[in-house]
Parts: sequence; structure tokens; C-alpha cells
Amino acid sequence: MSGETILIVEDNQVLQDGIREILLGEGYHVLCASNGKEALKEMSTFNPDLILSDIAMPEMDGFEFLQAVRSRPEWVTIPFLILTARGEKDDVLAGKSLGAEDYLVKPLTRQELLTAVNARLSRAQEIRLAQLHKAYEDSLTALANAIDVRDPYTRGHVERVTAYAQIIAQQMGCRDGLLEQIRFGSILHDIGKIVIQDEVLLKSNPLSAQEWEKMRQHPITGAEMIKDISYLAAAAPIIRHHHERWDGSGYPDGLKGEEIPLGARIVAVADSFDAMSIDRPYRNGRALEEAYQEILKCSGTHFDPQVVKAFQRAWEQNKIQAIYASTKTKVPSFDST
Ligand SMILES: [Fe+2]
Ligand SMILES: [Fe+2]
Repeated sequence: MSGETILIVEDNQVLQDGIREILLGEGYHVLCASNGKEALKEMSTFNPDLILSDIAMPEMDGFEFLQAVRSRPEWVTIPFLILTARGEKDDVLAGKSLGAEDYLVKPLTRQELLTAVNARLSRAQEIRLAQLHKAYEDSLTALANAIDVRDPYTRGHVERVTAYAQIIAQQMGCRDGLLEQIRFGSILHDIGKIVIQDEVLLKSNPLSAQEWEKMRQHPITGAEMIKDISYLAAAAPIIRHHHERWDGSGYPDGLKGEEIPLGARIVAVADSFDAMSIDRPYRNGRALEEAYQEILKCSGTHFDPQVVKAFQRAWEQNKIQAIYASTKTKVPSFDST
């Protein structure tokens, strides 16, 4: 690994030069400072990928510097390695309690230095990727919740549909990439409703033909919205086809059987089940049981029989009921209104 920038904070010039040479030889960019104060000055214009810091230094010692680094949100995740002289156990303990990742005992060999630096940099890279991934998903959910928030009767819908669809997909043996695609598709399946006005979206009376036509556009609008976002594009077919039916009577394209992408067939079951289980004047096991029976009844007409079988297996293992129970409190009660 190379190309990353490492900040060395060390007042012993010989040691600083030695470390610098080794790291430069490995292709790292290197910044140097002789104490914490100088290091903070370097960091006012540049965030290093890793910090190697001595403890005992004039002006600002390593502990004070470490505290300053950890107090800034943008610096919290920078790996911080302490350079300590042999036998300074208290330094190591104090450093770790302040948030240092690791320590290196002076004098250090080239091998020790490179092993520690490489390991910490790869770990930091993994953490950054995981955080980025999580941030993607969180922003997706926030976007999807923009619809949930508008319609109190469907609150929690996205969360439940996503959880049901994941369980069904797992039962069907879907893995990794496909599972993720289905998760994104479930989170965003109704995102196209964002362009539908409140008067239509929240209308309690039956929709007019024209309004219904608008409503039926949401899978197309949703798929269009995300098709150019590279990490979401694979979910576009799920969004577009989540209202298709196995027998070809669905919309928007009237696809039939396996012409409908598997992810969309799975989301269709999860989506309908949730809509039916919350669209009841009572909120208890009965609503859930009735919705479940309805799904079984529509196997082979509305729904792919294989998907229904997977859903049935999950139901028999109580997994569907567990999801419903865990998010139920967020569903508004119809009895009291
Ligand atoms: Fe929908
Ligand atoms: Fe939906």
C-alpha cells in the first residue's frame, strides 16, 4: 500500500529522519513535525491518513497532541500510533485510554514500523468503506422515509417491507449482491410517490380514474429517479416492476411469470403483505393471519408460487411475525381514531 500521507511527530531528529526515509522508500507521503504544536499547524491545512507520534516532546507533548486530535470530529478516525521508549508502560496505557490505536517501542526496526503502519492503514480503509456503505443506506432510508412521513397510515411500511423481503430472499437462497440489490429495491420501491400530491396520496375516498393513473406511474418515476446512480441502478428493475403480477395482470408493463425480475416478485409479496396487514380496522394477530392467508390464496395468480413458498417457510419459523411485532409500535392505531 502506498500513496497515503503519514505525519511523523518526533523531536529526535535522527529518529525522525530514519522513519521518514523508510516510509518514503515505501511510496508514502510524509509530513514531519517536532512537537504537537507544529503537528497541529501541519494539520490545519491537511488531514494525514495516519499519525506516528512520540510522547515526550517540548512545547506540546504527545498526550496533549493526541487529545487535540481526538477532540475534532474530522480527525477522530485517523489512526494514531504512539512511539514510546522501552519500559514506558504507563505511557502506553495513558495513550490507549486517550484513543491511540497502537504503540511502537523505540528503537524500532523497519519491519516493525511497516507492519504496524500497513495494518493500521488497511484497517482504517475497511472502516471508512463500511462507514461509507452505511451512510449510503442511511441516506436511502432517509429519502424513502420522506414518503412514510407524509402518510401516517403507512408509517414503518418501508422498514417492514425491507425486512420481509430480506427474509424471503434469504429463504430462497439469494446472497450477497442480489440480497443487497433487493434491500435497496425494497427501501426505494415507492420512492416515485414523492411526486404525487398530498391530495391524491392521502385521499381517503376512492381515487378517480385520473388520480389512479397518476398513482400507477410511481414505479416508473421511481426507477427513472435512480437509474443513473451507479450503486443503485441494479435496483431500478425491482422498483419498476414491484406491482407486476405473476399472471400478467399487474402494472406498469404487464410482465408475466419469470419475465418479472426475481427481486420484484419478492418485494411484491412483502409489499402486499404489509399493506394488507396494516390496512385493517384492528391491529392484532388476526390482521396478520388474514393477510398471510390472502398471500397464500394469491399464489400463482398475483404472486410467484416459489416466493410464496419461501414466505410460508419464514412464517412457519415465526420470522415474519417477529418483524411485525418489532415495528408494530410505530404503526398508528386505527381503533383509537
Ligand atoms: Fe408501490
Ligand atoms: Fe409499498
